[in-house]
Amino acid sequence: MGCKLNYTLPRRQALGSCFYSPRLQLVGVLTWFWPVDTAGAAKIAASQHNHWCSVPYGEVLEVDSGRVDNPPMSTSSHSPSRIVLGVTGGIAAYKAAELVRRLRARHAEVQVVMTEAACQFVTPLTFQALSGRAVRTSLWDAASEAAMGHIELARWADQVLIAPASADILARLASGRADDLLTTLCLATKAPVSVAPAMNHQMWAHPATQSNVNVLRARGVRVLGPASGDQACGEDGPGRMWEALDLAAALFPAVAAGPLTGKKVVISAGPTREPLDPVRFISNRSSGKMGFAVAAAARDAGAEVTLIAGPVTLCTPPGIQRVNVETAEQMYRAVHEAVVGAHVYIGAAAVADYQPAACAHQKMKKTSEHLELHLQRAPDILSSVAALEQPPFTVGFAAETNDVERYARDKLTRKRLDMIAANEVGVDRAFDRDDNALLVLWAGGRRELALQSKDQLAREFIAVVGERYQLTRHPVVTLVPQAS
Ligand code: PMT
Repeated sequence: MGCKLNYTLPRRQALGSCFYSPRLQLVGVLTWFWPVDTAGAAKIAASQHNHWCSVPYGEVLEVDSGRVDNPPMSTSSHSPSRIVLGVTGGIAAYKAAELVRRLRARHAEVQVVMTEAACQFVTPLTFQALSGRAVRTSLWDAASEAAMGHIELARWADQVLIAPASADILARLASGRADDLLTTLCLATKAPVSVAPAMNHQMWAHPATQSNVNVLRARGVRVLGPASGDQACGEDGPGRMWEALDLAAALFPAVAAGPLTGKKVVISAGPTREPLDPVRFISNRSSGKMGFAVAAAARDAGAEVTLIAGPVTLCTPPGIQRVNVETAEQMYRAVHEAVVGAHVYIGAAAVADYQPAACAHQKMKKTSEHLELHLQRAPDILSSVAALEQPPFTVGFAAETNDVERYARDKLTRKRLDMIAANEVGVDRAFDRDDNALLVLWAGGRRELALQSKDQLAREFIAVVGERYQLTRHPVVTLVPQAS
């Protein structure tokens, strides 16, 4: 697209010092953005077409002092993705500058919204220079509101990403506050909201933060990270913001064609409930978190995902078609309807092995000391999919308390699966937790995926599924020329 950025900056400012101490290792940042003071505000002029392009890494920008105007908001259906990037107060705010560059490299329009605390760490002018848009910092800025009101901005966004997301913003989002521009936007937008937490590891582990994160997850907010490692405070642990490249990839999953691009993937998740009478049922502790994370990861790998969900309280990840069921029989029917023409089936649901032989029409009465329940086998969904005439690439899960690999291999063979993901279950393991570990098995192979958040684990798992799918369903054939 024909556009030219004319950032103008007095020559003497081009090598100005950075606003952080060298301890924070901002060398990488200095190589590609220039600190600009207010007096030498950058004038950003668009081409006559008012298109805006990304600033390639390391490119020196021509700068000229003057006023900054936002380019008009694009409304065309062919416009690049429009992202509201919320930056909150935290040392990782400097990484958001790199993130803007990564997003623009994917042709996104980026509107940065900073909280008051974020402005203590990075100047709005930095983001303005990188995004090509005047940064929004306040709900009460009459000029900005006149140009585009906060509700209009909330509608404009295709996606909202808050990076870094401090403990404070997570708490304020969880409680539905609308006392600044960013929280108001998050309430007013229909666009998917993602957060990239970044904070001290003790703050991240605090039950209050974890409870806020769970509330947000349950409302469908994507939680990207945090990663583990060295922290700015000198400590070590989970709390580092994901790298800009990973965040950009999470927002634009299908840009790089993944192994599941264009593939139809059906995933089952959550428990089933087998009714005994109108008010009682047999079920298990599955929360659906693993299956939902796998569904989101498959979507991010480019797949068209149908999620068959048992009774859980989770929100549907954006971009995924969900079918709610309750019993094993209902799940069986829904799965078989969905797998017609599907390329991959992943059974992550904890389906009942047995169901009551009959369901009482009225509440059972307490008439004797003992009660005998007559149970019968529930349909085995996974085996039945694998036994289809033209089965999809069929992946099972195995929940085992002991002899994990032996029992899982037995299920892999007995149920004629392409692959199985085994997890050790028990008290404080796998079921209804935010983290998990998997041992992925296939005929003649295995891969151990370490204990980590279910979101991150699901990404690694889907990468293995994609790899094996490609190898078994689209094997590379090497043609050897015949000797004449
Ligand atoms: O939902 P979470 O709280 O996040 O917990 C995740 C999990 C522990 C439930 C998940 O990781 C998991 O292990 N899911 C499979 C649980 C299970 O039912 O395992 P199983 O070993 O009993 O069954 C083996 C496979 O057969 C599974 O793929 C299961 O979906 C399938 N099955 C089982 C019974 C049945 N009637 N029909 C089936 O299709």
